[in-house]
Amino acid sequence: MATSFGTRSEKIVYNIASFGQIVLTSRRVRIQTTDYIQGEAFQTEKRTVFGRGWMPLCAAGQIAKPGDFLAQAVGGWSMLGVRDTDGAVRVLRNACRHQNMPVAGQPSGHCESFRCRFHGWTYDLQGRFLSAPPAVAPADTSPGATDLLSLPVRQMADLVFFTVEEVSSGFFPPDPGQPYSGTIVTDIACNWKVCLEHLLGSQGTSEPEFAWFWPVLVVRRSGSVVLVEQVVPHTFLRTKLFTHVFGGAVEAQKFSAAMTKEACERQQVERANGTPAQGSALVAQFHRQLDEAYSGSS
Ligand code: FES
Repeated sequence: MATSFGTRSEKIVYNIASFGQIVLTSRRVRIQTTDYIQGEAFQTEKRTVFGRGWMPLCAAGQIAKPGDFLAQAVGGWSMLGVRDTDGAVRVLRNACRHQNMPVAGQPSGHCESFRCRFHGWTYDLQGRFLSAPPAVAPADTSPGATDLLSLPVRQMADLVFFTVEEVSSGFFPPDPGQPYSGTIVTDIACNWKVCLEHLLGSQGTSEPEFAWFWPVLVVRRSGSVVLVEQVVPHTFLRTKLFTHVFGGAVEAQKFSAAMTKEACERQQVERANGTPAQGSALVAQFHRQLDEAYSGSS
């Protein structure tokens, strides 16, 4: 069944009034070109953008079988998605309760339990503490003191979402209506905002069904193929792009993903040199929502 995506297209005209400062015609905004190259802005975004509302972690198909896991830093939050033995998807903080080190030391894989490689605390697939070597055994073995922290989870549109701050509502993409084919993972040396701006600015005229879901998801439908592009803010200068493919061949999307990487890394250099993002209605809308998020940080 064809699904119609709503497109946000409020037109905002902006100009550059001074070096490094993007200014709306009606008011100043806080986002500056330095926000693309400095960690301070990323820390603000960790609280005000990524720490509020539902954030995508991965496609449900990336952790399809019991024991599959995916560890991912999302906007500064270190998360661990896992499918437990009952088939339920869980999102846990990837932080050992002994000394806060990452429990999963690799980005993805399959296991029957998680054994922290630092001192050997072990957890089951639901994050429950199982055991520890006597020399480092916890004095307090109550679940609240030793289990991995578990976060609220939703599965929507074949994606796994989590929230750091408990919220009941959210804007989620529609169901793709096509089977999951696979995910291309692209590492990009850029700030996440550069990647978003590139995706929002690259809506083709042949893509009548194109939608952006604040803050990091872009959905395109072309015929029977649905692409869900998930920007994963890794650090302030590293971004991953998950291209989730539904209803088509993954291989056919690899060239496009490689082109996105090349374009984003070029645009990151431009931002570092003080050149702001080129305008489009969606990019301007993105900046405005960022501005609102930044405004709520103080
Ligand atoms: S930090 Fe995990 S066992 Fe010590």
